[in-house]
Amino acid sequence: MKITVVGGGFVGATTAQRLAEKELASEVVIVDIVEGVPQGKALDMWESAPIEHFDTKMVGTNGYEETANSDIVVITAGIPRKPGMTRDDLVNTNTNIVRNVTENIMKFSSNPIIIVVSNPLDVMTYVALKVSGLPPHRVFGMAGVLDAARFRSFIAMELDVSVEDVDAFVLGGHGDTMVPVPRYATVAGIPLPELLSQERIDSLVDRTRNGGAEIVAYLKTGSAYYAPSSSVVEMVRSIVKNKKKILPCAAYLTGEYGQKDLYVGVPVKLGTNGIEQIIEIKLTEKEQAELNKSCDSVRSMLTTVKI
Ligand code: NAI
Ligand code: 2OP
Repeated sequence: MKITVVGGGFVGATTAQRLAEKELASEVVIVDIVEGVPQGKALDMWESAPIEHFDTKMVGTNGYEETANSDIVVITAGIPRKPGMTRDDLVNTNTNIVRNVTENIMKFSSNPIIIVVSNPLDVMTYVALKVSGLPPHRVFGMAGVLDAARFRSFIAMELDVSVEDVDAFVLGGHGDTMVPVPRYATVAGIPLPELLSQERIDSLVDRTRNGGAEIVAYLKTGSAYYAPSSSVVEMVRSIVKNKKKILPCAAYLTGEYGQKDLYVGVPVKLGTNGIEQIIEIKLTEKEQAELNKSCDSVRSMLTTVKI
């Protein structure tokens, strides 16, 4: 298994480190445009191998030859948000970057699975699909695992219970219109509405929607990367180990949930071939309306993008 991570910044480097420490690949290649940085980070990570006990070969490069025949490519290249910016403010710059990265990847790998992380996530994943020419089940985006992890961690804090007992997922675009679905959240199998008042649930939903901005406000010069990199690695693990986990990912819809020709977060089954199934769950009228609104917001940004 060879995995390339494009963008050796905060998310990319932390992802590469976690992939190596979990030995999810025999080789991890980090690509970045800044000379020396991917090489230095890859070497530094490799020098931790004797202590962390991994044999994953680490390669850092500014070119794409070294990425040849990658099984999985994670695209984190792009600019992150600064305080006051929305994910959507990144659209023009990151479209050019994701287009260029995808073209270069496809010169050296004929059939990779591409996981997009760069924001605005749902639109950047669409760009990678169209530019790569790969089938949609091999191109998808990371956001729902992160948004759900935030929701799960807030629920665990609120109830003072183990995070291991908390399950939840989030639908929709990776933006302010995302749709956490508390009805389907559980704590050790107990539905969340049995344990918390509607008012408290609403407040946790609100915090989840603003989870990315909360971290940006603290960091001031960038956005979150520990939980995002963990989320990517969870998706990679399900693919590499063919675990067939059901995870919320940005998937290309062709009529599911009444939506088509766009990427948006929905629960999918992830295995060796990428997305093996899109899971459709029953939504209430209100939830469906919120999902439609979120899709409209993704669609309206898509119309501004020249692919
Ligand atoms: P960062 O600024 O630390 O890293 C980005 C890296 O991309 C930099 O090292 C930069 O040199 C590199 N880069 C820029 N253009 C490139 C190109 N053409 N080819 C190769 N490398 C290039 O940013 P960070 O924090 O790692 O975030 C990366 C992206 O991921 C941002 O767009 C951010 O908004 C997004 N993000 C998305 C999340 C999600 O849930 N989908 C979560 C966290 C971040
Ligand atoms: C996040 O949600 C910035 O999209 C990134 O943290």
